[in-house]
Amino acid sequence: MSRRISIAIDGPAAAGKSTVAKIVAEKLTYIYIDTGAMYRALTYKALNKGASLDNESELMVILNDTSIELMPGEFGQKVLLDGIEVTNEIRSAEVTNQVSYVAVHELVRKEMVKRQQQFAIDGGVVMDGRDIGTHVLPNAEVKVFLLASVEERAQRRHAENIQKGFPSDLEKLKEEIAARDKIDSEREVAPLKKANDAIEIDTTSLSITDVVDKIMGLALERIG
Ligand code: CDP
Ligand code: CDP
Repeated sequence: MSRRISIAIDGPAAAGKSTVAKIVAEKLTYIYIDTGAMYRALTYKALNKGASLDNESELMVILNDTSIELMPGEFGQKVLLDGIEVTNEIRSAEVTNQVSYVAVHELVRKEMVKRQQQFAIDGGVVMDGRDIGTHVLPNAEVKVFLLASVEERAQRRHAENIQKGFPSDLEKLKEEIAARDKIDSEREVAPLKKANDAIEIDTTSLSITDVVDKIMGLALERIG
């Protein structure tokens, strides 16, 4: 049997991480872990409980009593929060605009990283997020940092919203994405950052297939 490696895919919002990570995982028959979904699920639960997102101890009480499961579903990855599916709920504008405030907390991140590392214990994993190459899987055999201009990323989200029949405002999306990138890259703990040994791919003018092919090339080189 060939070696089952770990692949870390990081980058800012809407750079195409989850789309390409899912395809690469399917091609290699690896598991795909969307770590952003875990921070989103906690944010969703905390908002429902009326918790203060600034209060780390309150968030930790909630997190320690929370199960988050990621599993393959008919339309991509399914997210279960305490056994109940919240795949769509965690993508709401409210969660999207608040999640970065939850993700700044050191203890929250420590617990999330522990859970994420458990998923990857046997290799054969493609994981996407902000700190995978730098903190969660520092020994991943393949590390990729995806980039695209903020205009392109907002345009991609806009097209996705229109396709799904959701209301969408391109200028607002641009502002929200830029604001989230700023919080994610300026936070003290595990900020969004390219790992020194990650390969940077600017996807601004690349198709999904182009990006998948590049990552598959890197993966197959390492698998041998
Ligand atoms: O898909 P999108 O790029 O919109 O975001 P996401 O991957 O679902 O992540 C949502 C948020 O969770 C990010 O903006 C970060 O604040 C946080 N996050 C993080 O801090 N570390 C990770 N490994 C993954 C996500
Ligand atoms: O996970 P992340 O937030 O980084 O981005 P995503 O949700 O995978 O991708 C955002 C949108 O960009 C999706 O609708 C993708 O189909 C699209 N996309 C694209 O148009 N071109 C690429 N090279 C990658 C993604």
